[in-house]
Amino acid sequence: MSGPIGMFDSGFGGLTVARAMIDLLPWEDLVYIGDTGRYPYGSKPLDEVRGFSNELARSLIDDYGAKAIVVACNTATAAGLDELRASVDVPVIDVIRPGVKSLVSTTVTGRVGVIGTVGTVKSGAYVRAIADTGVPVSLSSAACPGFVEFVERGQTTGDEVTVLAERLLAPIVDADVDALLLGCTHYPFLARVIGDVMGPDVTLVSSADETAFAVRERLSEAGLHCETRTPGRHRFASSGDIEVFRELGSRLLGPELDATEPWPR
Ligand code: DGL
Repeated sequence: MSGPIGMFDSGFGGLTVARAMIDLLPWEDLVYIGDTGRYPYGSKPLDEVRGFSNELARSLIDDYGAKAIVVACNTATAAGLDELRASVDVPVIDVIRPGVKSLVSTTVTGRVGVIGTVGTVKSGAYVRAIADTGVPVSLSSAACPGFVEFVERGQTTGDEVTVLAERLLAPIVDADVDALLLGCTHYPFLARVIGDVMGPDVTLVSSADETAFAVRERLSEAGLHCETRTPGRHRFASSGDIEVFRELGSRLLGPELDATEPWPR
């Protein structure tokens, strides 16, 4: 079926999910909105974030003709998607359940960690999603305020990031986990630093690939998958500075992001 897959995040983080989707579903058209004009979401009240999600999803459907919505943001997912799902008639796919699925299938010891924004961790969304799997694991979680800001500035390595990571991840290191879920879509861009701090025995799990699989499954169940075999068109919009978005976004995502348009909210 024609129509792009619409996706959104507070900024650059959802590009980690966009990367996995472009690789797995190369024929699908995609529209991505980075709400950089209003980031970060993680420190905002969840009802405010919920309002942003509803507005962004509505715009993806009304202004861009999206046939499905991917909420490429853990904080927006944690804020609750019930209202959004009830108000649109296209499939809505989130990142929390796919991430949890990967996490519980990765651990061997049953001691797992999740890191995310303050909003995500405080919401308890991961505790509930893990309980829903029925897999008996012991979960340690930590909020990592400051990580998103580093990514949005394009600073993904270096001493400052490492010092902050050592401090914030200390409780997770102490908990002796063998798998750590990056429960914020910005965090895979910091994987080198996080991986160094956690050490070689901890597997870092990102929700990106599993979310792309979930999107493929949902589209095909709903008969919405693209049947033509011509490379998809990828559009990127930002509510912030579009030149900054294009420049840093293409560095983080790759050549597909060669142009950015303003998101007209
Ligand atoms: N990338 C987002 C997430 O997955 C939001 C980060 C933020 O804006 O604080 O939670």
